[in-house]
Amino acid sequence: MSAPKKLFIKTYGCQMNVYDSERMAEAMGGAGYTETHDVSDADMILLNTCHIREKAAEKVYSELGRFRDLKDARPDLKIGVAGCVAQAEGEEIMRRQPLVDLVVGPQSYHRLPEMAARLALGEKALDTDFPEEDKFEQLKARPKAKRGPTAFLTVQEGCDKFCAFCVVPYTRGAEVSRPAGRILDEARGLVERGVREITLLGQNVNAYHGAGPQGGDWSLARLIWALSEVDGLERIRFTTSHPNDMSDDLIEAHGSCAKLMPYLHLPVQSGSDRILKRMNRKHTAQSYLKVIERIRAARPDILLSGDFIVGFPEETDADFQDTLRLIEAVGYGTAYSFKYSTRPGTPAANRAQVDAGVADERLRRLQALLTEQQHAVQQSMVGRDVSVLFEKPGRMLGQMVGKSEYLHAVHVVAPDIQPGDIARVRITESGTNSLAGVLVTV
Ligand code: SAH
Ligand code: SF4
Ligand code: F3S
Repeated sequence: MSAPKKLFIKTYGCQMNVYDSERMAEAMGGAGYTETHDVSDADMILLNTCHIREKAAEKVYSELGRFRDLKDARPDLKIGVAGCVAQAEGEEIMRRQPLVDLVVGPQSYHRLPEMAARLALGEKALDTDFPEEDKFEQLKARPKAKRGPTAFLTVQEGCDKFCAFCVVPYTRGAEVSRPAGRILDEARGLVERGVREITLLGQNVNAYHGAGPQGGDWSLARLIWALSEVDGLERIRFTTSHPNDMSDDLIEAHGSCAKLMPYLHLPVQSGSDRILKRMNRKHTAQSYLKVIERIRAARPDILLSGDFIVGFPEETDADFQDTLRLIEAVGYGTAYSFKYSTRPGTPAANRAQVDAGVADERLRRLQALLTEQQHAVQQSMVGRDVSVLFEKPGRMLGQMVGKSEYLHAVHVVAPDIQPGDIARVRITESGTNSLAGVLVTV
């Protein structure tokens, strides 16, 4: 028997890509590949890419250029591009970078083993179809190997919302929800392998409406309640949500489902109704604030996170002030903010662009405000007891790192704690991006 081939995967972009990379590694496992973390050792390199902003897409080409020497030294080395750049620019990648042997889109990666077999015959392979078959069903091999205590699980994919700036509806396709029974099955498999926290993923995860095991559609809340019955699964999270899909039952679950963690990522993008309209977001600043008010009524201690874009075409200073006001009104625990990036093929691409210097300055001011809020929230945790799911050793001797229910990273000196343990911790200190604490002994 020949020695197993080695696969090196590098993942960019969102959590869904992280999940997809795991699935691709498993699919290739069935075709005789084992994963390596050393690129110089690889027989195949796969970049799982992101197309959301221009910089993300350009990174792929510069990374590919760096593989030239490796490929010169070992002509048998195969180089593949997966993910959203593959979907958006498939054939162009092959033209621009002849080093590339394989291009596979996010909806066809279950066909990777078959494509790899073609490469072995000296061919190139490109597949950016949106196939009829369910890729998740094709990939349902259930690995048994132990794994870390936290996992992602894709439950919904694609987007029908078409925000004017965004490539996701084109790279991931239409919104599709997986059947609830399969998700529950996958979750049980993860728990058997040591997982204690699952983050349900979807580009619009709260729009989830999968077939229930006994027929009928299940909402995300119903799925969360069913998952909360899985023994050994202690924590449930979900991301990313759209404000218009925060249904009553989901808000209610935040108040009553003990395993659903008090953290919600709810992107708003802008606080200006004029800009929100031009973004095709289909909500207003007021309707977003109303949703937040209802969530906080159900779960007062919930930590909120968001996404913001500054410098969207035609954004004026007054629009930007509205965004700052919305941030003041919400009080975020953490947030992600971006300078608008023109994406070819999206409706906003042809509109009057904001001066880059102006957008940079707005981003700086917005991030200063968000950082201030983040630190205030972190500081407010000092003296409080939180529950921490420990994930791995820290950098200091005897130190362990985990996440609180609010998703803060927490460092604790606790030599007896193992990854996967959940313990009460009293927060003693707030650092730049994490907290420190001591175990609460009872
Ligand atoms: N489905 C999610 C997020 C998708 S992309 C949602 O609807 O919120 C993640 C974030 O990237 C977006 O929330 C947005 O803030 C940012 N983003 C998307 N397209 C962008 C663009 N063209 N330029 C800058 N930021 C962008
Ligand atoms: Fe993109 Fe908007 Fe869909 Fe989110 S809701 S993925 S921002 S189009
Ligand atoms: Fe990027 Fe595709 Fe995710 S564009 S953010 S990897 S859905």
